[in-house]
Amino acid sequence: MRDAIKKLLKEKNAIMLAHNYQPPEIQDLADMCGDSLELSIRAADTDAEVIVFCGVHFMAETASIISPDKTVLLPRHDAGCLMADMINAESLEAKKARMAPMPVVTYVNSTAEVKALSTICCTSANVVKVVNSLPEKEMLLAPDRNLAMYAASKTNKTIHVWDGYCPTHEWLTAADAAKAKADHPDAVFMAHPECRPDVLVLADVVESTSGMLRYASQSPHKAFIVGTETGLLHPMQKQNPDKTFYPASKKMVCRNMKRIGMSDVALCLENLSGQVKVPEDIRIPALAAVTRMLDLSR
Ligand code: 13P
Ligand code: SF4
Repeated sequence: MRDAIKKLLKEKNAIMLAHNYQPPEIQDLADMCGDSLELSIRAADTDAEVIVFCGVHFMAETASIISPDKTVLLPRHDAGCLMADMINAESLEAKKARMAPMPVVTYVNSTAEVKALSTICCTSANVVKVVNSLPEKEMLLAPDRNLAMYAASKTNKTIHVWDGYCPTHEWLTAADAAKAKADHPDAVFMAHPECRPDVLVLADVVESTSGMLRYASQSPHKAFIVGTETGLLHPMQKQNPDKTFYPASKKMVCRNMKRIGMSDVALCLENLSGQVKVPEDIRIPALAAVTRMLDLSR
């Protein structure tokens, strides 16, 4: 299957991108693995005609927003994001109508139609930079309430919160985190900003998935507790065979991130099926919000 996929990638002039939470065999085959920000930048910069996006729907949609002339394939149409489903254009319009005029910072974990109503996008890797880049003192950050509260704690801005969250990260309680720390007293506790605030106060390091990977590689420490989706343990262990990684909780599994298998990748490449395309009337305003973020991050 690996050889068949490699051959198809070549034949179709395709690149395979995989998020850090994908199953190990998918990460091992991909041309590039990364966090949401790195994958968007790569999708924007590639010369390939076809992008096979091994992640969830909003990630493939973001690639299509940036590169409308490329064929963007999501190998499983049912790989969604529960957080992205907690907001839509209608509910955001209604919230905006109830608030004083202010910028809307939208986490990339959202649909294209929500991005289209936003001032600028952000990811977990650049949220503080994005918030600080805006001249306004007050803004709405949607849909992740935990990311919004984290950004508020790191800036002197007034941030209005949308009541969305990632169930995978919400499962990690402060009690789980405290127990992991007690069980492994020498380990550095790294957490993703999608975790609850009472978990983040216990963390030694708060980073995006790739930020945690970099930290673990560069740190002189030998043991780490990983407070994010457990898929990240695969690249961490692979890149650092001499270090030990413990999941903060084994419950932190995103089922949507685990849907794609090798046969799905082969099938979508063979038939160019699972194409994700955003209508132009939504793509153009969504692109403005994504480009504003990418210009800050490149
Ligand atoms: P990052 O890889 O950008 O940190 O995102 C985490 C996530 O939940 C993606 O769905
Ligand atoms: Fe969405 Fe959470 Fe899964 Fe990421 S881990 S795709 S935010 S549900």
